[in-house]
This record gives sequence, structure tokens and C-alpha cells, in this order.
Amino acid sequence: MKKVLVLAAAIAVSAPALALDGAKLYQEKTCWSCHGKDAKKTLMPVYPKLAGQNAAYAEQQMKDIKSGARNNGQTAAMKGVMGLVNDEEIKAIADYLSKLK
Ligand code: HEC
Repeated sequence: MKKVLVLAAAIAVSAPALALDGAKLYQEKTCWSCHGKDAKKTLMPVYPKLAGQNAAYAEQQMKDIKSGARNNGQTAAMKGVMGLVNDEEIKAIADYLSKLK
């Protein structure tokens, strides 16, 4: 009985983290159209590959592109799309990308 309770508690704690599916968001929010279905083969050669990118770094870059803090010649292409994702979704996608090989 005790084991069951511990298990139930573990599921309850991990549930919020599972609520957002980074892989699904990556497809739904059209990220793949520029960064590639597998996040490796990009639409344009100058676009960054995202597979295996450091999660904390990727998260911050997305936030900076969204806010305008990061702004160079290529950023404009991506900025419009960032209106589709909130901070939680950005985090989930960054986590997903970091785990791609
Ligand atoms: C219209 C094309 C386009 C779309 C759609 C797009 N991006 Fe980008 N993304 C870019 C470009 C171009 C850059 C490089 C920007 C620069 O040079 O500063 C970039 C940069 C990034 C970076 C930073 C990479 C690094 O190594 O610094 C991340 C992370 C990223 N995109 C994630 C996403 C996610 C997640 C989505 C979907 C919500 C998305 N992008 C949608 C074009 C796009």
C-alpha cells in the first residue's frame, strides 16, 4: 500500500512537466518549416540547426528573439512566429530540441 502511495505522489509531481509536449509544439507552431522536421536540415543554409542545442541557451535565444533583444539580419525571419509560443511552450520546445541527437 505504501508503495502505491509513493508511486501516486511521483506521478502527481511529474504531471505538470508532461503537460506540454515539445515535439508536438515544434510541429504545431511551424518551427519545422524553417528549422527542418528533424531540426537538422534547415530550409535555408544560413538558418541554425537546433537538434542537440543546449536547452537553457535555446530557451534564452527564443525569448531574446521574441523580445527583440537579439536582432540581426536573420532574426526578422523568426520573430513573427514567436507570437505563437508562450514562455512555458518555449521551455518545452527547448527541452525537446536539446534531447535530439
Ligand atoms: C520563418 C523561419 C523560422 C521559423 C518559422 C522559426 N525559426 Fe527559429 N530561427 C530562424 C532563423 C533565421 C534563426 C536565426 C536568427 C538569427 O540569425 O539571429 C532562428 C533561430 C532560432 C533559435 C536560436 C538558435 C541558436 O543556435 O542561437 C532557436 C532556438 C529557434 N530559432 C527555435 C525556433 C522555434 C522553437 C520555432 C517555432 C516556435 C522557430 N524557431 C521558428 C528561422 C525560423
